[in-house]
Amino acid sequence: MSYAKIIGSGGYLPPRVVSNDELAAELATRQIETSDTWITERTGIRQRHIADAGVTTSQLATRAAQAALADAGVSAGELDLIILATSTPDYIFPSTACLVQAQLGNKGAAAFDVQAVCSGFVYALTTADSFIRAGRARTALVIGAEVFSSILDWNDRSTCVLFGDGAGAVVLRAAEEPGIIEAQLNADGSQMKILHAAGNVVGGQVTGDPFLRMDGQAVFKMAVTSLASSAQAVCERAGVPLADIDWFVPHQANVRIINFLGRKLGLPEEKVVVTVDKHANTSAASVPLALDAARRDGRIRPGQLVLMQGVGGGFTWGSVLARM
Ligand code: ACO
Repeated sequence: MSYAKIIGSGGYLPPRVVSNDELAAELATRQIETSDTWITERTGIRQRHIADAGVTTSQLATRAAQAALADAGVSAGELDLIILATSTPDYIFPSTACLVQAQLGNKGAAAFDVQAVCSGFVYALTTADSFIRAGRARTALVIGAEVFSSILDWNDRSTCVLFGDGAGAVVLRAAEEPGIIEAQLNADGSQMKILHAAGNVVGGQVTGDPFLRMDGQAVFKMAVTSLASSAQAVCERAGVPLADIDWFVPHQANVRIINFLGRKLGLPEEKVVVTVDKHANTSAASVPLALDAARRDGRIRPGQLVLMQGVGGGFTWGSVLARM
């Protein structure tokens, strides 16, 4: 039996940083009122990275993938699987994974996108893990990448202050020892209305409303309940007490959700990776960006137990427990 081990990670953030004050000043020019105090107190977000016009998800993803491949010491040609999680693909088709594959110079690997919004990375990671465990892949690239700024309604202060752009990636390789120990994915499509971008292109015209809409309080409640039970279920199935977890890498949407979860799961603040203050919510990119930041600054070390969690539109949620 093969396991899947994370052997490298990488991240990429577009260079333009927009602070809360800058965003508030920008919105004020359109008579939309917000402030650094409101955003910081309600969310913990202090700034976000925003891609310049014309920059695409595949471009951010390729930069993150190159960093992850370099970190793993793996060449693009060795990959036999590329899974990319995004809700902001470059095109209707082909998949953004195929565009990244071409930009990396890989030919022949299976490549496809996963759409689970902010849970996308844990969905993609679990899928890649399943391929490797089944012997259908040996070296996989898993990416979460978004240009979320492209689906924000910049006249809606209740959502536009919350998100940012970026990409994170990991390289997985088949190994005798875990690796990814346990995972659980869930969804409840009946809750689609609390978080959606319910538009499309039909006959060359945009139909519906293509901007992200959210019932913030309903999302908050759903996120904390679903993630708490998901963490407990995954650890129980793995036979790992929550107290043994070295690092908790949750979806970076809101520091209040993260703190609430940490307390509920009995995980002290020192074990929780937080990047939402600097990155804001980068949807599918948030977990791999946070994982990469904590690996690169030496907090997450080989042999440690890491619990990753995603939650988002669908409604979707999931947990992955991994030994680094
Ligand atoms: N600046 C100033 N005031 C604002 C802003 C803003 N940016 N946005 C909303 N307000 C106002 C509202 O209009 C409201 O005013 P009113 O009382 O006069 O009507 C007031 O602030 C309170 O609004 P609420 O929506 O009740 O504020 P709440 O405390 O619930 O905070 C928030 C809103 C931050 C969105 C919170 O509900 C939340 O974090 N929810 C979870 C959202 C989330 O994490 N989403 C992403 C997860 S899934 C994914 O990643 C895709």
